[in-house]
Amino acid sequence: MFKKDLLKNKRILVTGGGTGLGKEMVSHYAEHGAELYICGRRLNVLEETANELKEKFNTKVHFETLDIRASKDVDDYIERIFEEGPLDGLVNNAAGNFISPTKDLSHKGFDAIANIVFHGTFYITHSVGRRWIESGHKGSIISILTTWVWTGSPYVVPSAMSKSGLNAMTQSLAAEWGKYNIKVNAIAPGPFPTKGAW
Ligand code: HXC
Repeated sequence: MFKKDLLKNKRILVTGGGTGLGKEMVSHYAEHGAELYICGRRLNVLEETANELKEKFNTKVHFETLDIRASKDVDDYIERIFEEGPLDGLVNNAAGNFISPTKDLSHKGFDAIANIVFHGTFYITHSVGRRWIESGHKGSIISILTTWVWTGSPYVVPSAMSKSGLNAMTQSLAAEWGKYNIKVNAIAPGPFPTKGAW
């Protein structure tokens, strides 16, 4: 549908890009000529995906382990990327979720999800956006939401609450950062059977 070189010379970071939906998006960006950065918690899947895409599309795919809950690690990682050159795009795809009756959740369980989805996504977004604003470089951010932002959903309350926060972040930053030529959007896929989700 798109020209194969549509994303040539574009540098895009996809968090959680080693598996599932993240990997699908990374594959399409690679197919259209982008240079990719992928991060996640598991080195083996990142390496596998990077090698697969490099071979298939002859494009650069950089990978590094990162837990987006660790704010200092996030900022150091983004700093290292920008030292090589500015990003053009960020996809906030990394997430965590488990299905549990809310009455059985411990506070630690709630935090495990909220720290990844709500806090971690902000850390990345802030770290990238701040550098775009400082350098006057334009950029585009896409965050992955879920349909339960609007419908609510039983048994996934920490995720539903955190993703709703990301929806508010998207609307707020689209208004606040538009003047810096930073586009902030989100997409909300319904459930589909990736290995992580199932
Ligand atoms: C209840 C649970 C639990 C579960 C963990 N906890 N799993 N509580 N039900 N299934 C609780 C633990 O008991 C503990 O609290 C606390 O959470 C922290 O647990 P850890 O295992 O130490 O957490 P951590 O290592 O940080 O890992 C959390 C996690 C992990 C990343 C969310 O569970 C995980 O890897 N999940 C599978 C991968 C994943 O998240 N896939 C989803 C992709 S996104 P206590 O108090 O007991 O110590 C997705 C979106 C779908 O699926 C959208 C569809 C529309």
